Amino acid sequence: MITTAMIAPLLELLVLHSFINNPVLAFTGVGPSTSFDWALKVSELHIPGYRETKQHFILDTDTTSNEEVMMTHADYSSLLPFQNGHLIHKTNGYLFTPEECSSIVQEAEDVAARMGWTTTRHGNYPTTDIPIVELPNTLHLLKSTLQSRLYPLLRHQFSPYLPDGTKLRVADGFIVKYDAAGGQSELKPHRDGSVLSFNVALNDSTDYEGGGTWFHSLNDSIRIEKGEVVSHASGILHGGHGISSGRRYIMVCFVILEGYDTWSMRFYNNVRDL
Ligand SMILES: *[C@@H]1O[C@H](CO)[C@@H](O)[C@H](O)[C@H]1NC(C)=O
Ligand SMILES: *[C@@H]1O[C@H](CO)[C@@H](O)[C@H](O)[C@H]1NC(C)=O
Repeated sequence: MITTAMIAPLLELLVLHSFINNPVLAFTGVGPSTSFDWALKVSELHIPGYRETKQHFILDTDTTSNEEVMMTHADYSSLLPFQNGHLIHKTNGYLFTPEECSSIVQEAEDVAARMGWTTTRHGNYPTTDIPIVELPNTLHLLKSTLQSRLYPLLRHQFSPYLPDGTKLRVADGFIVKYDAAGGQSELKPHRDGSVLSFNVALNDSTDYEGGGTWFHSLNDSIRIEKGEVVSHASGILHGGHGISSGRRYIMVCFVILEGYDTWSMRFYNNVRDL
């Protein structure tokens, strides 16, 4: 006989499984109906998937010798004040060189020519993307850049909130392709299931019309130049603003704070009305 006690763990597994396959949490509106228990799934504790996927992004021993760049307030602009800090930032210059951006797009297109772009990873909000773990050169470049520039940048930007900025870890990342001519041209408003998210523009802003990262709280989208970075609290409502012509590639990464599950849940809950 099948009892509820037997089914419950199974249901939990199914929920977890579908969550892991849908790391982008989709919400179409704000208000009471969205105060669903998603926050419980934000920490590593509740996302065994992140515990595994973050392994791919752990720095190699040969990149740990990379010199860390000292970041200052002059390196970025901040928006959306909240408590002692800001929840959205954009860099005032590139973190990835034009050559690095080109090589990332090249590798993504080369690999996609063999295995295709993924369009099913994010459930109701499909993106046309390719996981960075499938792109060895990009993964190597990302790890080195995380060490030298990206983690120092995020640490500085979110220092008013982070209990320990040295515990930031990328847990997932992919290259997304927006194409006005077909496929995906926008990404509907949603919340990510991590602590911080960032995206890197891989194209010049003149390569497309429209685009940028749209934020509900700003009622506006932020457009950046090739190699620049937009970072934000994962839990705030945002989307990929539609492009009306051209093509736009971005690199998107989800970042967690290792060992701070309770703090992560609290942070997510605090910002999810924004
Ligand atoms: C976008 O940028 C990449 C290099 O970063 C380039 O290969 C590609 O042609 C650009 N796309 C368009 C539509 O200009
Ligand atoms: C949001 O921006 C649009 C124009 O971009 C404007 O028409 C609209 O009134 C704004 N909404 C709010 C709530 O400010």
